[in-house]
Amino acid sequence: MTRSGDGRALPPLVVNGEDRAAPADPRVSLLDFLRDGVGLHAVHAGCEQGACGACTVLLDGRAVRSCLVLAVSAAGRAVTTVEGITPPGGLHPVQDALVRHHGLQCGYCTPGLVMTAIDLLAATTGPLDETVVREAISGNLCRCTGYSGIVTAIVEVSEGGAVSEGGAVSEGGAVSGRRAVTRR
Ligand code: FES
Ligand code: FES
Repeated sequence: MTRSGDGRALPPLVVNGEDRAAPADPRVSLLDFLRDGVGLHAVHAGCEQGACGACTVLLDGRAVRSCLVLAVSAAGRAVTTVEGITPPGGLHPVQDALVRHHGLQCGYCTPGLVMTAIDLLAATTGPLDETVVREAISGNLCRCTGYSGIVTAIVEVSEGGAVSEGGAVSEGGAVSGRRAVTRR
């Protein structure tokens, strides 16, 4: 059992639905914990100072830069990585749209971009304007694509229906994840 500095027992982090004991070292970032402690290597390390967005994950459903979060501060909270939203043998609707619109090349930025897009889409009730999408992903740097395909993909998903963390596009307002958007 990991304990905080004042001796309190820390609850586990809930990573993609599974309990993971918080690291004993309070200096470990959530990024390093997810990659080195849990083995989730799709959480990419880029700048490691909050500038590139490659390390973006969901913390209690909201996008955060995991390089700027201490793992112990996420104890007892829900952490979702791109591994957690990808259905077995398939793709999340955002991933699928990115592939179809050539919204990735090397793919280094992609996991973080997907998580930012899911946060944006889950907080949205209608089709997204391209300007809104560009603003929302402005903290996720992509050196390959020129962003056009990424923006097109996210706009398309926003026009198509609900997006949840669980990877489903809901029909008629069915909610399959903790945060979801209802089809118009
Ligand atoms: S690695 Fe976290 S923002 Fe760049
Ligand atoms: S696809 Fe290469 S950095 Fe975005």
